[in-house]
Amino acid sequence: MSQDARKAAALIEERAPGRSPKIGLVLGSGLGGLGDQVEDAISFSFAELPGFPEPTVEGHAGRLILGTLAGVQVACLQGRVHLYEGHHANSVQPLIRTLKLLGCETLVLTNAAGALDLDAKPGQLMLITDHINGQGTSPLLGKNDDSFGPRFPAMTGAYSKALQERIKAVATTQGVTLREGTYIALLGPTFETPAEIRMCQAMGANAVGMSTVPEVIVARHCGMECAAVSVLTNMGAGLSDEELSHDQTLEFANKASATLQELIKGFIGTFT
Ligand code: HPA
Repeated sequence: MSQDARKAAALIEERAPGRSPKIGLVLGSGLGGLGDQVEDAISFSFAELPGFPEPTVEGHAGRLILGTLAGVQVACLQGRVHLYEGHHANSVQPLIRTLKLLGCETLVLTNAAGALDLDAKPGQLMLITDHINGQGTSPLLGKNDDSFGPRFPAMTGAYSKALQERIKAVATTQGVTLREGTYIALLGPTFETPAEIRMCQAMGANAVGMSTVPEVIVARHCGMECAAVSVLTNMGAGLSDEELSHDQTLEFANKASATLQELIKGFIGTFT
């Protein structure tokens, strides 16, 4: 498993010599458009990279793109894998560790999520300040690869305070409303029941989704700094009269994507 990341990084370095991405990006449902804005792009389909699982969800392309965004070298995962697709939790290891081996010290993630705060509005963005792993599994199950990180990695400060301040400053400059809060990842693929939404609220979560937490766990294990933003595509089940659907998720993710893309580009631009 850990050999996959080494093989993938070696293959990428051979086919894209001289690239040294500093920031890794993981783009969620309907938010992959940022990958298309990468300049001077060299792209690899997940299928050609050892150990990279093929995403099966509509709106998730499955490409790793190397190039420049806002003047900074990035490595962008356009399309991600979710546990509900049937992948083993460990299957996110090669994706994130490949970014680390390519030189990325920072990981920026986006996702679509359901809002749990009653004053939230679909289409708003939320900066993730902490998470709850509600998936009942971990991407670090099994023998630990000490060359990437320790057996028992700390998850305090999983979302870097310094990066949070940086992104909030960009949001203020751009006039973007950026909510803040804790993201809880559940397994999916069902949307939650209203009772589960009440459970998430009682646990102190502000948004609920089905991704991001595994990637952040793997990234923190190997020492990457993380920043993540959710697009709140809907109110959690039972909090509004709307019927929940993936189409609605994609519709609101697409509507908010221009704002989110500008925010992320502005943030990345502070690394020049
Ligand atoms: N629940 C879980 N995942 C989601 C939701 C939701 O309401 N909206 C978008 N992704």
